[in-house]
Amino acid sequence: MVSMFPWTAPLFRLAGRRWSEDDFRILAESLRQFVPVGGVFADLGGGTGHLGAGVARILGARVIVIDVVRQMLRWVPTDPLVSVRLATAEALPFPAAYFDGLLCCDALHHFKDQERAVQEMARVVRPGGGVLVVDAEPTGLNRAVAVFERFLGEPGAFRKTDDLCRLMEAYGIQGEATAQRGGSYLFLGVVSK
Ligand SMILES: C[S@@+](CC[C@H](N)C(=O)[O-])C[C@H]1O[C@@H](n2cnc3c(N)ncnc32)[C@H](O)[C@@H]1O
Repeated sequence: MVSMFPWTAPLFRLAGRRWSEDDFRILAESLRQFVPVGGVFADLGGGTGHLGAGVARILGARVIVIDVVRQMLRWVPTDPLVSVRLATAEALPFPAAYFDGLLCCDALHHFKDQERAVQEMARVVRPGGGVLVVDAEPTGLNRAVAVFERFLGEPGAFRKTDDLCRLMEAYGIQGEATAQRGGSYLFLGVVSK
């Protein structure tokens, strides 16, 4: 089945406006300990890139918005701190230890092979670098979201946080997840040295 993202890209562009300065600041504060001014981080499954661009501005760092859907990347804001790369999370076209950090928001549950994607995260982020994943647990309303996404041909593979922490740890990313509103969570981990 064809992915829903090529035809929903204009909607995601509008949805990018849901991110507030506070959202940018909260995520930037989590990444700041890993991503110095002038450093570089990935926004994996970054879509239209509004979140990555906002976080990059606050950090004073470069971001590479990585997405498998060309139509999403078309809307990424033009900014000297922001560049794009068309690629799949499961095979990232970057050398080992290229990034100081990585952000992956509302995208992990869309990846067809999460294990491979996490392995790639651990490879492309430098030892001591940070991995920040924002996603949701398969609870409450998110169960219905998963069913709907599967109907649209997506994996809809939301993970429980303990399961995600185990997966991360298996590839050398040590961290913990903090619960947010509506079953969402924020996982922050460090790539082991
Ligand atoms: C719900 S959108 C989230 C976009 C953005 N991170 C945000 O929070 O606004 C999920 C994104 O993941 C991308 N995606 C899905 N599977 C992917 C994969 N295997 N590799 C890279 N990107 C992928 C989709 O194309 C889409 O842009």
